[in-house]
Amino acid sequence: MTDPWAIPVDWPPPSPEALAHGRRVQAAVDAAIEAAGGALPFADYMECVLHAPGLGYYSAGARKFGVGGDFVTAPELTPLFGACLANAVAPVLETTGGDLLEIGPGSGRLMADLAGALDRLGRLPRRILLLERSAELRERQRETLAQALPESKYSRVAWLEHWPEGFVGAVVANEVLDAFAVERFRITPEGAERFHVVRRADGWDWALQPGAGRFAEAVRALRERHDLPPGFVGEWCPGLEAWIAGLAEALAQGAVILIDYGEGARARYRPERSGGTLKCHYRHRMHEDPLLLPGLQDITADVDFTAVAEAARRGGMAVAAFVTQAEFLMDAGIEAAFEAQAGSVPGPALWRTAQAVRTLMLPGEMGERVRVMLLTRGLDRPLPGFRGRGRLAEL
Ligand SMILES: C[S@@+](CC[C@H](N)C(=O)[O-])C[C@H]1O[C@@H](n2cnc3c(N)ncnc32)[C@H](O)[C@@H]1O
Repeated sequence: MTDPWAIPVDWPPPSPEALAHGRRVQAAVDAAIEAAGGALPFADYMECVLHAPGLGYYSAGARKFGVGGDFVTAPELTPLFGACLANAVAPVLETTGGDLLEIGPGSGRLMADLAGALDRLGRLPRRILLLERSAELRERQRETLAQALPESKYSRVAWLEHWPEGFVGAVVANEVLDAFAVERFRITPEGAERFHVVRRADGWDWALQPGAGRFAEAVRALRERHDLPPGFVGEWCPGLEAWIAGLAEALAQGAVILIDYGEGARARYRPERSGGTLKCHYRHRMHEDPLLLPGLQDITADVDFTAVAEAARRGGMAVAAFVTQAEFLMDAGIEAAFEAQAGSVPGPALWRTAQAVRTLMLPGEMGERVRVMLLTRGLDRPLPGFRGRGRLAEL
């Protein structure tokens, strides 16, 4: 049983406003549990606490990214990340003459850095497009980009409501797929059970029920393919296939760069990971209880890049490369980008940049835990970041 508000004493307590907001999210989850007949599938719970309009973690006012928030993403650490991504994207824009699209741009920091670096390379595209499902974050992106770009460049920025048609150019998404709602399953001797959230007097609890339909089919396939033993707990992302299909349909020509915590399915479903990959972040504390702090903490699951690759191929895209973040950044020129800073920024700022680069590159930090996948259509050109093609055999 989890009392959603019983957090460890050494964690910063939510402010009264945050707590009042969290209570509203809790009430929305309780209503959803009731509407579902007393037990809510975990994916519906995760969708509600992360993405419910005006309520969920990503859709409401929490600070989220950066030092004052709950977790730090690569672009929030240093502009060198955006500079490296610009080196990978520039040849795509040159070859196709197309546009740039970012999906899930968060605070807008990455696009601000990426657009700035592309401008310096003389490769700023005619249109800079953003696709973001949170209205609150769209507003933050608007503020960040209006501040970062001169008026003449900001006029190229536009927000999309849905997938574009016949898109030509480069698509990037950093840490977007790991925020998609997942189902949790547990393998049994007969098949698999599906995790549900139920109400108790003082909070919420897990209930395991037999799964049916798409859930049962998907988990049966995973179980057979990876020989999952009874007791194995894992996740499956029900929205991934349709999302990649939408992306594939939208892309007429160009490249997609997906960057996320994750791995190939063989690694993701190996015996040592029999507890699953769910992780939660609240004020820089990482833990594994998604029933805590509804609407006030991030919940993620590692991305199954094998599933991404298979869905991409079904959609007619080529899986051109799969590398670690460290491999990507080395090949995309992080050393040169750092050296360029060394001559121009004061010592303390350079020290902070060096720390950020360590976090991006070290294997136990983001260097190996974050993977970068390159998907292409109608583009046969080696791109900085992916010239080793990397670990396609791991998929
Ligand atoms: C963890 S944040 C990453 C933000 C940013 N890319 C960065 O690196 O700092 C996830 C972002 O993806 C957005 N998002 C999640 N699912 C999405 C979807 N299906 N379509 C568009 N944006 C989505 C969230 O609202 C948020 O902006």
